[in-house]
Amino acid sequence: MHAAVSVRDLMESIIIHGGKPLTGSVETSGAKNAALPLLAAAILADGPVIYSGIPHLKDITTMMTLIAHQGAEVTFDDQSRLHIDSRTADRPIAPYELVKTMRASALVLGPLLTRFGHAKVSLPGGCAIGARPIDMHLKGLEAMGAIITVEHGYIAADAPNGLHGARIVFDQVTVTGTENLMMAAVLAKGETVMENAAAEPEVVNLADSLRSLGAKIEGDGTHRIVIQGVERISGGEIAAIPDRIEAATYLAAGIITGGDVTVTNSVPQDLEAFLAQVRICGGVVETGEDWIRCAAPTRLQATDVSTMPHPGFPTDLQAQFMAMMCLADGTSTISETIFENRFMHVQELVRMGADIRLDGHLAIVRGVGKLSGAEVMATDLRASASLVLAGLAAEGETKISRVYHIDRGYERIEEKLRKLGANIERHSGSEQMIPQVLNFHG
Ligand code: EPU
Repeated sequence: MHAAVSVRDLMESIIIHGGKPLTGSVETSGAKNAALPLLAAAILADGPVIYSGIPHLKDITTMMTLIAHQGAEVTFDDQSRLHIDSRTADRPIAPYELVKTMRASALVLGPLLTRFGHAKVSLPGGCAIGARPIDMHLKGLEAMGAIITVEHGYIAADAPNGLHGARIVFDQVTVTGTENLMMAAVLAKGETVMENAAAEPEVVNLADSLRSLGAKIEGDGTHRIVIQGVERISGGEIAAIPDRIEAATYLAAGIITGGDVTVTNSVPQDLEAFLAQVRICGGVVETGEDWIRCAAPTRLQATDVSTMPHPGFPTDLQAQFMAMMCLADGTSTISETIFENRFMHVQELVRMGADIRLDGHLAIVRGVGKLSGAEVMATDLRASASLVLAGLAAEGETKISRVYHIDRGYERIEEKLRKLGANIERHSGSEQMIPQVLNFHG
């Protein structure tokens, strides 16, 4: 994935002087993982789709570029609202150059295939958090009548007579798999039933939005989703939900620093598992209709966490929660059940003084009295967030390199954390660093 990273990106680092309790209020942005499928859904609509709540993030730009590459018109109006009109789209292709920078590009496969009867999408490679195959997406499309071949690194999917409804039973809960097949089924002939479907709020956001454009979908938010195919869906206005992972990351920043943070534009029901754990750790949680406040206890208590599909504890908060548990009183266990390799932050946290032992899918975290600032390296989006949290709580200076990872999912992170009182800056590095960084990449 490094091929898409510029030297400038590699040189950038975040420097934090930690030890200050964060307090105050910060507004959550729209959710990246909700916005990505909503953008892909424009491929299905036979009129312009107008968006709100779309965050300014690298992954969003990649998805817009991908859709524009297919011939759709991607524009902004005078209120900075994104418009996508895919009536002009005529190239159902997702090239390697874009897919390799963002796995979620695979979300265009279902919409392109159901609309054009054929699509060519680069097969995503492995990534930092695990192998992450898309076999369940492909099996679902095959059950709906697609003929799929993989050649020269591309998935070629054909459905010359269109897709038809099918009964799809997922072996494992897959979020983008559920979204991809939901979009394919919207314009397929007949009924599609998805069993063991993902119930994540982002899936519900997609279903709500598609319904508002004319799709017939029931059961979203449960593990059984039923879709009746329709002839067409129209354009219209749709909005991404607030980012629950971003919200929880700022709440965790308050807790880990012994502070008191409120996030606005947030949905407490979307974060129940996380908030329950905060209470178990001794934190104070208060919620309103669209805000959440978490205040730190005098000393955090250790707890055991296991990542699960929604409404369980999200894997996208595992790294951030582990940073918190590094400073808790007692020993915590953190079990990662969704991804096989999502512990890349552990060695970096250990460099900051954490006491963590790994045993397969389990991390055993013995709380320590303090963390100390160090030079560390971000390895993926949520791992980067955990290092920022640890840096905010640590004594002294923490320098995090490869922060381009964090820009994939956190909008204006330094600005938001500074608003809460953090001492955090981005540095662009120096010329002398370039050979060193490039050597490291070999
Ligand atoms: N899986 C398969 N085959 C498939 C699909 C998934 O084996 O065809 C496996 C995966 O390898 C993984 C598990 O099933 O072990 C669950 O993966 P899932 O498909 O749910 O993940 P995803 O849809 O690729 C989305 C989010 C991730 C988030 C996961 C789990 C988006 C764009 N991405 O990924 O977000 O971690 O669901 O909740 O929605 C992030 O934002 O940092 C991030 C990685």
